[in-house]
Amino acid sequence: MIVCSCNAISDTDIHAAIDWMRAADPRTIITPGKVYHALGKRPDCGGCMPLFLSTMRKNDNLEVPAELRGLRETLRKRKSHT
Ligand code: FES
Repeated sequence: MIVCSCNAISDTDIHAAIDWMRAADPRTIITPGKVYHALGKRPDCGGCMPLFLSTMRKNDNLEVPAELRGLRETLRKRKSHT
């Protein structure tokens, strides 16, 4: 299904870009801008953004893995206990 008609970006393209970015860097924050960039495109009218975001949110790889979330806080607590 085409999500962004200005750039002919499909939901499959978005999921592939997210999966690729997550595999390349488990800690990266994935944004719509990064998805466009990974696909070699730039947003134009922005009319697709609500559907673009909802498509992104359906991908299980969108969020940083739980074991990496709060890492800075965990490290700070460990330092304060030593
Ligand atoms: S429909 Fe996506 S930028 Fe226009």
